[in-house]
Amino acid sequence: MTSVVSTASSHAPQSTGPGAPLLRVHGLKCSYGQAQVLHGIDIEVFAGEIVSIIGANGAGKSTTLMCVSRINRSSGSIEFDGASIASLPPEQVVRQGLVQVPEGRRIFPRLTVRENLEMGAFIRSDKDGIESDLQRIFEMFPILKDRALQQGGTLSGGEQQMLAIGRALMSRPKMLMMDEPSMGIAPILVAKIFDTVKNVLNAQGMTILLVEQNANAALRMSNRAYVLETGNVVLTGSGQDLLRDPRVREAYLG
Ligand SMILES: Nc1ncnc2c1ncn2[C@@H]1O[C@H](COP(=O)(O)OP(=O)(O)OP(=O)(O)O)[C@@H](O)[C@H]1O
Ligand SMILES: [Mg+2]
Repeated sequence: MTSVVSTASSHAPQSTGPGAPLLRVHGLKCSYGQAQVLHGIDIEVFAGEIVSIIGANGAGKSTTLMCVSRINRSSGSIEFDGASIASLPPEQVVRQGLVQVPEGRRIFPRLTVRENLEMGAFIRSDKDGIESDLQRIFEMFPILKDRALQQGGTLSGGEQQMLAIGRALMSRPKMLMMDEPSMGIAPILVAKIFDTVKNVLNAQGMTILLVEQNANAALRMSNRAYVLETGNVVLTGSGQDLLRDPRVREAYLG
């Protein structure tokens, strides 16, 4: 792996002791049948960071997130908030505070917008807190408030994306993993979604691992990024440095 710059972060690590990342993935390998698609990936995300994974179609970006959220089987170590999550079931990973917004905006199409958001809070029992978070998400994405009683499946693509993000936030995660939030969404809305997410998350001190094909947008909003090629991390550095890196410019920024 070529390191463009030091991966040390200016963000002070929080609860996990000096220098400890919130998420630490080491030697992650994954196969689908006979085909190995991740060949030993190392990724670290510190509390408060926005870190992105960029790479071409099929590079293994979604697979990486699916392994970390334990939906896919994998080998290697996955530590979150100081403890191994590598053998937990996916629901337990959510309970630990690590939540994925899946690719393709998988919301519940027959439930209303409001019910979809409430489902996101399935691990919580603090009714008042849930209600106030719901209102906060309606403030963040006012269109969801207008559509609160409508079935999720009737929302436009961009609206479903907002709903999927809102649903993930309803669990009050420590860290959010987002897979292609810009997919199928008009550029102007992408900017709005990224802005909104960044503002809210900064305010809450949340941490994000973002997968994006829109490398330009991702690198601009990220503290650091990893470039994935055919299941290997080939480059890592700050968002700003990668934006200027000739290899990244040629391969991913057109
Ligand atoms: N369920 C599956 N069964 C078999 N092969 C799979 C499966 N899911 C993904 N793959 C293969 O694994 C490789 C990595 O796929 P992955 O979805 O992780 O890529 P990606 O980087 O997210 O790509 P994209 O940018 O197109 O979303 C691809 O070659 C893909 O065909
Ligand atoms: Mg993908």
